[in-house]
Amino acid sequence: MSNSHPGGSDPQFIAFQPPELPADPVEASRLFHQIMDRRRTIRQFSDRPVPRAVIENLIRAAGTAPSGANKQPWRFVAVQDKAIKREIRVAAEAEEREFYERRANPTWLRDLKAIGTDADKLFLEIAPWLIVVFKLMKDDLLQNESDQVYYVNESVGIAVGFLLAAAHHAGLVTLTHTPSPMKFLCKILNRPEHERPYLLIPVGYPAADAVVPNIQRKSLDQIMAVDRQSG
Ligand SMILES: Cc1cc2nc3c(=O)[nH]c(=O)nc-3n(C[C@H](O)[C@H](O)[C@H](O)COP(=O)(O)O)c2cc1C
Repeated sequence: MSNSHPGGSDPQFIAFQPPELPADPVEASRLFHQIMDRRRTIRQFSDRPVPRAVIENLIRAAGTAPSGANKQPWRFVAVQDKAIKREIRVAAEAEEREFYERRANPTWLRDLKAIGTDADKLFLEIAPWLIVVFKLMKDDLLQNESDQVYYVNESVGIAVGFLLAAAHHAGLVTLTHTPSPMKFLCKILNRPEHERPYLLIPVGYPAADAVVPNIQRKSLDQIMAVDRQSG
């Protein structure tokens, strides 16, 4: 049975090319979860190079994300230059020191202690690439002759999710880093006024002796509900 659709013979609509169907969707989804379950945030990187073509493909994958009214309100700035990475490290560490010494409340510090983070951000220089994600506060391509953007945080968050999954799929590791505030990134990278920093993501290979916090993911029962809550 086919639903009615707005296309008809309208050339603005094209036939959807569905993805190839897996033989067994339960098995396919189980395997995907198994792969994603191995993803971890890494804070000790190797300086092993990553070809630019790989980074381009990760960003292409991120760019396939859905977005409010298809405005694609994101920009991914890939930084490999050592001097720029150093500038970013110095500026990020200054913000982080301020955060750990003054801005964070005691509960936040306790939560971070469990993860073992501190104001030292050596990885910002060692990782071969930093992908700095900006959200666009207006559409600079003027799609549909308007510069309005919609659901920007949701759209960019989904695109970053795709980016992290793509990196993991390529055998790379990432760190979703949020030095706060991140305004210094606009200045160092000379971005226009309507681009706001969203996340700073080192991408590369893990150091040979990398360790990760022994933390647990919530169980399915804890994160999923079906239909209506009873009572
Ligand atoms: C929006 C966001 C901001 C984060 N900011 C930082 C950060 O600034 N520094 C850091 O070391 N980890 C940061 N993390 C990583 C989390 O600590 C990490 O995802 C969490 O502890 C779960 O670990 P896992 O990613 O290995 O599953 C951030 C994660 C997210 C999603």
